[in-house]
This record gives sequence, structure tokens and C-alpha cells, in this order.
Amino acid sequence: MILIDGKKEAGSLRLKLKEEVNELKKKFNDVPGLTVILIGELAPSQIYVRNKEKSAKEVGLNSDVIKYPEDVDEKTVLKKIKDLNENKSISGILVQLPLPKHIDKKKIIDTIIPIKDVDGFHPVNVGNLSTGYESSIPCTPLGCYLLLKKVEPNLSGKKALIIGRSNLNGKPMAQLLLKENCTVTITHSKTKNLKSECLEADIIIAAVGIPKLVKGDWVKKDSIVIDVGINKTDKGIVGDVDFEEVSKKAKALTPVPGGVGPMTIACLIKNTIDCFKRIKSS
Ligand code: GUN
Repeated sequence: MILIDGKKEAGSLRLKLKEEVNELKKKFNDVPGLTVILIGELAPSQIYVRNKEKSAKEVGLNSDVIKYPEDVDEKTVLKKIKDLNENKSISGILVQLPLPKHIDKKKIIDTIIPIKDVDGFHPVNVGNLSTGYESSIPCTPLGCYLLLKKVEPNLSGKKALIIGRSNLNGKPMAQLLLKENCTVTITHSKTKNLKSECLEADIIIAAVGIPKLVKGDWVKKDSIVIDVGINKTDKGIVGDVDFEEVSKKAKALTPVPGGVGPMTIACLIKNTIDCFKRIKSS
């Protein structure tokens, strides 16, 4: 079984990005700038944001985190986003999700100018991805895609099954795999007989948030399994895949932690650099 080492892949991607930032610095006398907005005190969000900032700095980006209390009003955040949209030293804006209930997620996402939308959540970027035009691609599915390509460069004709239909993962993942000529199935909580769907698949992307959902007898021999889940349990963090069981069957599998997670953050840095380049050439 191939253990897909996301930590190692993210490390080499960051190294490549660091070189690219050095080149950009020479060319433009400027480096990409990422601003993350964090609202409230949710522990997982604080950890993600800290890791994002650390990676951005390591690669040589200008990086800034703007923190607001849980009860900040929506207008304040929208005004800040509009200022960042206009700010020439900022190439990427990310508002960490989830948001407090009184803040309208759609309004926040729609206010970020698409060229600085490093998450790829703005409807313009979603539309561009689904129609095959250049766009920011959401960081988690992009990370999954790069790991997948590493173990299987030719995805054409493969049966890919996605568990979960979120805007963050499942839907953009489907677009990326379609572009690679996979035959894509998206499953979700209402899917009947998920096990038999999984048994048909050459590739499984599990992004549903149910601990150890995918069992050893759900996957066929030689399948490639990408585990996006990060579930907190009594026994620590586990993925959506039963690692013990599936590792005995699959051809390749990502661990949790150390699989998709580190790649997601490296892809955010990549997206920030790509936004910078699009801004410079626009
Ligand atoms: N919260 C969890 N994952 C993400 C992500 O990819 N982007 C943002 N903005 N928030 C998140």
C-alpha cells in the first residue's frame, strides 16, 4: 500500500512556491500579500489560521491576520473587505469559515473581489471552474487533486466517487475530476447503498465528516482513497475512512493527520501567488 504523504508533498510544494516568490520579487519588486479575517474564538479556526499565517511567512509572502470578536457587526467586516479589495499590497483575501450566525456568509463571499478570492468561493470563480476557464480553485479539493495526480498521473476514464456534496469540497472536486476525464459520481447523506457505490470506484474522495465511515469491505482492491475528514473523537482526530481496515485493501491512501490537511494550506499559498500573478497581468 502506498501511504500518500501529504506532509512531504506540501513541503516540496512550499519549497517550489518559495522559489517562485523569489523570482516574482526580482521581477516586480513586490511579493504577494495574504490577509486572513478571523471572527470569534473557535479553537479549530484559530489553529487553521495560525498554520496559514506560518506557511505564508515561511514561503516569503506578506501575511496579516485581522481578528474580530464574535459579536462584530456585519457592516464592519464588509467595509474591511471593501478596503482590502482596493488595497494594492493585498493579493489574497480569506475570511475563515464558519462565521457567527448573525453574519451572512453569502454576502461576505460575494463582497470579496473575485481576483483576490484565494478560496475560490465567489460565484464568478465557481462558474469559471465549472465552465473550464481560469479561476481560483478551492484549496482542499486542489490539494486532494495534486495528491491524486502524484500517485496516478493518468486519471482518464477512471471511476471517481465523491462522498459529500459541499461547496467547499465535493462540488469543486467533481469539476476537477471531470476535467481529467474521470467518470464522476457525487454521493451524499441521501444516497442509497453507499457501500456498493464505493465498491465500484477506482478513486474515492471521502469528505463527509463521519468518523471512519468507509470500511475495508467498501473498497475494491487497487483503489485510491483520499480522506478529507478531520473528526474529533474520544480517541483523537480520525478521518472519514477506517484507516486500519482500508490500508489493507487500497492501493494508496492518505493518512489523517498528515494527508490532505497540509496540502490544503500549501494550496492556499499557491492560490495567493496565482492571484498576485493575475493581478499583475490584468
Ligand atoms: N474553514 C474550513 N476550511 C476552510 C477553507 O478552505 N476556507 C475558509 N475560508 N474557511 C474554512
